[in-house]
Amino acid sequence: MKDLSSLVKINLRRKRVLVRVDLNIPKCGEQVEDASRIEAMVPTIKRLFQKKAKIIILSHLGRPKQGTKNNLSLSSIIPELSKHLSFAKIIFCKDCIGASVSRAIQSSQPNEIVLLENLRFHDGEERNDQTFARLLSKNGDIYVNDAFSVSHRQHASVVGITKHLPAFAGLSLKRELHHLDKILKKPKKPSLGIIGGSKISTKIGVIKGLTKKLDYLIIGGGMANTFIFNQGIRIGKSLYEKNTEKITSMINNTAKKNNCEILLPIDFIVTTTITKNGLVKRAHLNNISDQQIIADIGPKTIEIFAEKIKNSKTILWNGPLGIFEIEPFNKGTYSLAKKVAKLTKENKMESIAGGGDTISAIIKAGVAKSFTYTSLAGGAFLEWLEGKELPGIKALRINKKMI
Ligand code: 3PG
Repeated sequence: MKDLSSLVKINLRRKRVLVRVDLNIPKCGEQVEDASRIEAMVPTIKRLFQKKAKIIILSHLGRPKQGTKNNLSLSSIIPELSKHLSFAKIIFCKDCIGASVSRAIQSSQPNEIVLLENLRFHDGEERNDQTFARLLSKNGDIYVNDAFSVSHRQHASVVGITKHLPAFAGLSLKRELHHLDKILKKPKKPSLGIIGGSKISTKIGVIKGLTKKLDYLIIGGGMANTFIFNQGIRIGKSLYEKNTEKITSMINNTAKKNNCEILLPIDFIVTTTITKNGLVKRAHLNNISDQQIIADIGPKTIEIFAEKIKNSKTILWNGPLGIFEIEPFNKGTYSLAKKVAKLTKENKMESIAGGGDTISAIIKAGVAKSFTYTSLAGGAFLEWLEGKELPGIKALRINKKMI
């Protein structure tokens, strides 16, 4: 795969570089809640800016359906983007293809960066339509993918466009691949995965993939309830997924075959209403009443999981272990996140976390910076954990077009 370092000796002065980034960032009204994806793209943009290239930023925002376009214009990101790219002026185009875009790029000045409108306003983007991909490519001489987090999408700006232009990996994408490959291809042993979240059905491939690679797998959150329920244990009114006996038994068999030990919680924090001020109790595995809801792992489980973490050299984390968004139920996720962060800081392990909820939980626990690496990707991180080759990465790998 060619990356930006292969462009070092090439004169990029006034060359039009289309950079696919991921500006799909969480917002609360006008306020950007987490600018990590913007921060991540800055080194690539700076590198191209120093080489005096004409930079054209491509991105999507949200999943526009008819009638939602106004809320999802990329113009709403300009104030935040300008903060991080303060060395340049952002010129916004109201479309991402066509004559007006070509004119804006043509007349852009060396201190300007062109931002194109949300790619998903054209349905050709998600269909990977070749005409749309060709029209996008017409406004560039070179293409750079700096968005690992969209590389699992077979979309025109990720895959189709690489048929028309020399394509390179950006610095953020390279960095992400480096960390992810390092930890999954050759994890230092013992290696431990922590998988949480609510639904097994969305993570079957991930769990199966991890049981083949890791020594231990902690399962928490709503997913653990399903495993426990399928063992014939009563879980009251807790969330679980029905008709999954075959799935959990297949996962247990794969784990056994590959010498991966699955660890499930043995005690819980339970409640009867999931609210901040609801009555909260501790319950052992065999002691959950019909009215109770499992909301977090219990203190004994935290102790056991913490001990396993302490003895591991590699940790890979996806999914919270309880309803961390509500205060009394965040203890399991937060205390184990703090444990991982501390051991990582002391150089006793390497730790990677990925997925929207997971990152949000470890940010709230105040320890995101202490992990070896936190992936910016959600769906792409999960597909990568499954061991799939992401279409956007494959497209870069097979691209042989020359500048
Ligand atoms: C993400 O937030 O995971 C990426 O931006 C991809 O978004 P999508 O799931 O809407 O394709």
